[in-house]
Amino acid sequence: MIEFENVSKRFGQTRAVNDLSLKIESGELVALLGESGCGKTTCLRMINRLIDLDKGFISVNGEHVSDHDPVLLRRGIGYVIQGVGLFPHYSVGRNVAAVPQLLGWSTADIDARVTELLDLVNLPANQFADRMPSELSGGQRQRVGVARALAARPTVMLMDEPFGALDPMTRAELQDEFRALQQRLELTVVMVTHDVSEALLMADRIAVMHAGELVQIGTPHQLLTKPGDDRVEALLAMPKARAERVETLMKAERS
Ligand SMILES: Nc1ncnc2c1ncn2[C@@H]1O[C@H](COP(=O)(O)OP(=O)(O)O)[C@@H](O)[C@H]1O
Ligand SMILES: [Mg+2]
Repeated sequence: MIEFENVSKRFGQTRAVNDLSLKIESGELVALLGESGCGKTTCLRMINRLIDLDKGFISVNGEHVSDHDPVLLRRGIGYVIQGVGLFPHYSVGRNVAAVPQLLGWSTADIDARVTELLDLVNLPANQFADRMPSELSGGQRQRVGVARALAARPTVMLMDEPFGALDPMTRAELQDEFRALQQRLELTVVMVTHDVSEALLMADRIAVMHAGELVQIGTPHQLLTKPGDDRVEALLAMPKARAERVETLMKAERS
């Protein structure tokens, strides 16, 4: 479980996040959705203390993150970003092994975990463990990023536009795969996105942000049927209109 209680963060004169309260249940995937600059990444990075908050509290599984050493905290929380940030001079296997190595696992445990994880993200270890990141497609690199983030068995995963840089087909495939994985492992996930369709199709609940504030939080169904205000309605207008056009095309083809 992740809880924000009246959290604020400024950068100089910029109010990046303003008095935000939000609760994410265990095993839930919540998307933070909103236009560029509305404070999504700042929220995410305050959870694992890549950014320290100014006011309020954030807790993970009932403990304030401020009570934890930031480095140790980060090792226990998965983090996946757009473009992945794999170590370019490390093989795929060594990338996935990075956190278990820092945690001092035995070589046998690390090797077994790397094999297990690469299988989990559909990159069989015998084919992929020794490849370099430059020898992978964008989608494969993103899969390695997910495997690496899962290495130390975190229960919480933070994702910042994780599928943003991929072509639409690969993106859809990874979205579906990740959602299935998240449900199977019962991961608690906060996923930042500005892609409304991605939020609608992947999230249990969507937290819509605007100018550092939470505008509405609800299930995709709630947002679509009962948008809290004009901003939420406007955000959903485009994917709704597209879905309706596709629907019309399908009907026209049948008759
Ligand atoms: N390190 C920083 N220094 C100064 N301003 C920042 C910094 N990080 C973010 N900001 C500002 O805070 C606001 C929120 O940024 P961010 O959380 O990255 O938004 P989002 O992820 O929704 O695009 C923006 O106005 C951004 O310019
Ligand atoms: Mg961002």
